[in-house]
Amino acid sequence: MTSKFIRQAYLRHMQKRDHALIGRASLVLQNDPTTLFTGSGMQPLLPYLLGESHPQGQRLANSQICLRTQDIDEVGDNSHTTCFEMLGNWSLGDYFKKDQLTWFFNFLVDDLKLDVNRLYVTCFRGDDKYSLKKDFTSAHILQGLYQARGLEAKIVDLISADQASQSGMQDGRIFYYNDDENWWSRGGGIDKTPLGDPAGGDCEFFFDFGNEYHNQDKYGLPHPASDSGRFLEIGNSVFMEYQKTETGFQSLKSKNVDFGGGLERLVAASLNQPDIFKTDLLLPMIEKLSYLSQLDYANQPTSFRIIADHWRAATWLALDGVIPSNKEQGYVMRRLIRRAQLQASKLGVKISLSDILTPLICQVYTEAYPEFEKQHTGLIEVLKKEEQVFQRTLKAGLRQFEKLTQKKLLTGQSLFVLYDTYGFPKELSLEEAHRQDITLEDNLLDKFNQLMIQQRQRSQTIEIGSYKGGLADHQPMTIKYHTATHLMYKALKLTLGSEVTQRGSNITTERLRFDFSHKTKVTPEQIAQIEDTVNQQIEADWKITWEIVDTQKALAEGVLGAFGDKYGDKVKVYTVGDPQGKHYSREICGGPHVQRTSQLSEDGRRFKIIKEESSSAGVRRIKAVLK
Ligand code: SER
Repeated sequence: MTSKFIRQAYLRHMQKRDHALIGRASLVLQNDPTTLFTGSGMQPLLPYLLGESHPQGQRLANSQICLRTQDIDEVGDNSHTTCFEMLGNWSLGDYFKKDQLTWFFNFLVDDLKLDVNRLYVTCFRGDDKYSLKKDFTSAHILQGLYQARGLEAKIVDLISADQASQSGMQDGRIFYYNDDENWWSRGGGIDKTPLGDPAGGDCEFFFDFGNEYHNQDKYGLPHPASDSGRFLEIGNSVFMEYQKTETGFQSLKSKNVDFGGGLERLVAASLNQPDIFKTDLLLPMIEKLSYLSQLDYANQPTSFRIIADHWRAATWLALDGVIPSNKEQGYVMRRLIRRAQLQASKLGVKISLSDILTPLICQVYTEAYPEFEKQHTGLIEVLKKEEQVFQRTLKAGLRQFEKLTQKKLLTGQSLFVLYDTYGFPKELSLEEAHRQDITLEDNLLDKFNQLMIQQRQRSQTIEIGSYKGGLADHQPMTIKYHTATHLMYKALKLTLGSEVTQRGSNITTERLRFDFSHKTKVTPEQIAQIEDTVNQQIEADWKITWEIVDTQKALAEGVLGAFGDKYGDKVKVYTVGDPQGKHYSREICGGPHVQRTSQLSEDGRRFKIIKEESSSAGVRRIKAVLK
């Protein structure tokens, strides 16, 4: 039974129950600045769970690739990954507990043929502080479902995972736990529910792999929510009926269902295989690594798992247009790639992971996600480039590490220098110190953090105005792209009309990305005109300077700013040209910029727009390079 079969079976199962199949969202959500990545299937549906009507109706289902980087340190055991595929269905104020629990229960037993004796379920036990009721309804529906399969299911109140590890399961089948286990919001338990977010109690299904996977010395008595490895959570039905307010929770207009089930885990349960890395989604990579390293996966599973998980995550990120950098999504991607590379070198695998693993990942996913086929070569290119960058960084960094730790001591200062000057990741210095038995200075991390703060203060010469950190770093290329962004913003206004307004900007060493309000597609002729305008300004060799100005005065003079930004009384204004005389543009900005526009054409570079697309309703996105 393969992942393909289960994905299809589930989507068909929901389709038969009148669900519209909706496409997956990108791993990087354009309009949700609250998180870096799509971490669950519900995230792109947030407005609809809060009451907006969805164009495809009240019953939706899909399969969503998710990335949860908070799990990065847990990768290495047999069931955690950063990247996973979540099968999901939603009721937006339509069906509720009875249908949801029945459909999923039947899917497990009838479609996946899971042994009902191996299934356990947990429900929300309520919370007095917020007057949230115990979920008797779900527990009784579940009891009926077991009964229909000839099994008497006892309901037991386990309260918390801690207490359960002492009391054990008491022959129960359905268990109540508190909000640590059976409440879901994007932030976690009840008190961590983000203000304004939807949330609710949930019912979680667990598959029992057998007591031989339970380590009693470490985990106490077995119970479903224990981390011991005997039970694996394979589906979570959240009954999203509340919204977090300042004082507690209010009922949402409609009672929603938000279901998510990890595909890898469902496959593992259906194979009775507790190691998800042995499912067909990940096994090809494990086998390849084992072949290349001539090492047995069973002997050192951790390295194999980290490589397979991280490489898959990085490949998905590349597919969704993320490029390794030092900031935000790009930084996480860089970290995943580098961690995987380090583990690969531990296994003695010297060949590029892009060459050996990315094609396997494409093979696994192409049928369900045809975009893999189209971008196959591009993906390998992006990943490989970063592998090479890291190889160089690593070599230089290690040399410095040796120099800085000659006295067998790693100080906070050295850790900072390695990171700041040589781009050698903090984690790697620490790992290397551990490996070489090098002593760590007391409060090493505090010192490191202190230096980081000081450095940040130094680079932000002035704290006025709106520097919204769209810049990945302050390397020369990034600064050039920052200046190019100013030139382009003005060119957009000149070409498309003065109502064009900045909606977002993101700059790396590789390219600029700029979002702006504009209703229609920018035509090829307009693109050519924008490019020409920018290139002419580069050739004109304008001088760039900044000054501090009264905000009102600046705005009255037509100085450009980003829509929706809040400015203080005074702002920093960058001018391309002479602020008092002839100039091309003036913009509120925190900097930094190059001194003269001709610096953008060093090495014969020209400004070129490489992509123009819709970003959201009424907002266009342009990516451009200096090539
Ligand atoms: N949002 C819930 C989860 O991520 C169910 O989809 O577990």
